[in-house]
Amino acid sequence: MPQIAYLECSRCQAQLDPTIPQTVCNLCAGALYVRYDFSAAKGTAVRDSISQIPQAQPSRGMWRYQPVLPEIAPVSLGEGWTPMLQSRRNPSVFLKEEGANPTGTFKARGLSLALTMARHYGIKKIAVPSAGNAGGAAAAYAAAAGIEAHIFMPKDVPLANQVECLAYGAHMTLVDGLISDCARIVAERKQQEGWFDLSTLKEPFRIEGKKTMGYELVEQLGWTYPDAVFYPTGGGVGLIGMWKAFEELEQLGWLSKSGKRPKMIAIQAAGCAPIARAWDNHEPISQMWQNAATFASGLRVPKPYGDYLILNIVRQSEGTVVALTDEQIFASLRDWASNEGIFLSPEGAAATAAYYHLLGTGFLSPSDKVVLFNTGSGNKYTDVIAQSLGIQVNIR
Ligand SMILES: Cc1ncc(COP(=O)(O)O)c(C=O)c1O
Ligand SMILES: [Zn+2]
Repeated sequence: MPQIAYLECSRCQAQLDPTIPQTVCNLCAGALYVRYDFSAAKGTAVRDSISQIPQAQPSRGMWRYQPVLPEIAPVSLGEGWTPMLQSRRNPSVFLKEEGANPTGTFKARGLSLALTMARHYGIKKIAVPSAGNAGGAAAAYAAAAGIEAHIFMPKDVPLANQVECLAYGAHMTLVDGLISDCARIVAERKQQEGWFDLSTLKEPFRIEGKKTMGYELVEQLGWTYPDAVFYPTGGGVGLIGMWKAFEELEQLGWLSKSGKRPKMIAIQAAGCAPIARAWDNHEPISQMWQNAATFASGLRVPKPYGDYLILNIVRQSEGTVVALTDEQIFASLRDWASNEGIFLSPEGAAATAAYYHLLGTGFLSPSDKVVLFNTGSGNKYTDVIAQSLGIQVNIR
């Protein structure tokens, strides 16, 4: 397991001390990357020893990548090593089923690592502004870590997110507004309340947890890159984390530097598409999206903190940004449920819809190997999807 060498600002490259809890760069407020001394992990021998971890040990989950994760005892609920499912209709299409994670979404990865580090640093209370699923995951991992959790979510998040926060014993506040309003409240109160702020990209370890998606997809494809990765983008942590993983894989010599990295496709909902608008206008950062509205609640992030990183990565990868309407997303959700037997989250269905959209525009061809991220299970959205299906919901 590697030692963390330092934390590095993604904007000005300042180096910060990893032995104390850090938030963002103290010079420019940029998001921080964890940098390691990787000398012991270099070369394919370490990579091949990971591949030999029997599949029968799924409980190791994302912690199979311990050689590239902090040397700290994990707070784990069995996150990661999720299925890579081949589409029944097109053998070049793979679906990364993140709904198989604890709490039913990929948020488990980032919050497992963030709470691992919070416990290591001796933090007693955390606060998280969330679009919904990060709140549920934070509540679960905080419970497992013995840390008090304060979760702030929009008042119209799916019912499952509210139920899980309360069931895990978190303090939950439902806010009349969006995640940006939740973040403001946390920022205003955290000092007085003694909360450590686990906001997206305002602490370095959620990226670190989500980078395991990048390692996993490459390993599951036989240590090769696909042609494109489709990622439903709200705050963009997974996309940023996967790109970091690709960089590390090359630095470690686990993958050839000459292999072409995948095109990163950032997918948004037309009702909240700040990254898509910035991309179309060739701007380096996004502008606040007014009146954000979509049933893909995880994509309702009106001004992502790491917009500059997302846009830069998409450009470097020769990818693109696509925004889909709720109608297009829902049609794809039904299509994958009835034709593939997979109950996508609305965010995942945005990725599948985007794939067919980009086949239509000629950006990709059917023979391109693609990985589509289903970032969560449709089962977390039964109330929302019931409404779209015209089912009357009775709560006893
Ligand atoms: C199911 C789901 N997919 C995608 C996202 C967007 O994730 P990110 O903030 O990493 O872009 C979220 C965020 O809440 C989510 O819950
Ligand atoms: Zn900086």
